[in-house]
Amino acid sequence: MTKRPILIHPDPRLKKVSAPVPDLSDDLRRLADDMLETMYDAPGIGLAAPQVGVNTRLIVLDCVKAEGEAPRPLIMFNPEIVAASDERSVYEEGCLSIPEQYGEVERPAEVSLRWIDRDGREQQEDFAGLWATCVQHEIDHLDGKLFIDYLKPLRRQLITRRMQKLKRERARV
Ligand code: NI
Repeated sequence: MTKRPILIHPDPRLKKVSAPVPDLSDDLRRLADDMLETMYDAPGIGLAAPQVGVNTRLIVLDCVKAEGEAPRPLIMFNPEIVAASDERSVYEEGCLSIPEQYGEVERPAEVSLRWIDRDGREQQEDFAGLWATCVQHEIDHLDGKLFIDYLKPLRRQLITRRMQKLKRERARV
């Protein structure tokens, strides 16, 4: 497995709508494994393929945070929300493409999700709590949407300027 560089906002590749995966291939499985390694290393709890510059509908996540609890790495090709609760919850979200910036986002508290797993099998499962927020955040990436798009325009512009500055600084080293 190889760690891949994570794109930092603003980047046109983070704003694109990603294409569905027609058929699983070894290349796509390798990409998914690389993404998990990249996510754990960051460290983060979710990563979407556009964040490593690939505009394909693939996300990985593992929202197990409690110490001593077994990790639960999930690889989802073509993830799709098939139902969402009316009940909503608010989480302070962050993003590996927008380092060290956070903002409260309100989303459905529970979602029912369908996806294709690493072995090409269709899966369906309900998610709640942090898992529900995380899958929605990652699926947003596949539609070119970032969590800052839910924030007030001034806050979004402030964060974007900070990221532009960060990118300039990184480019200089
Ligand atoms: Ni993100």
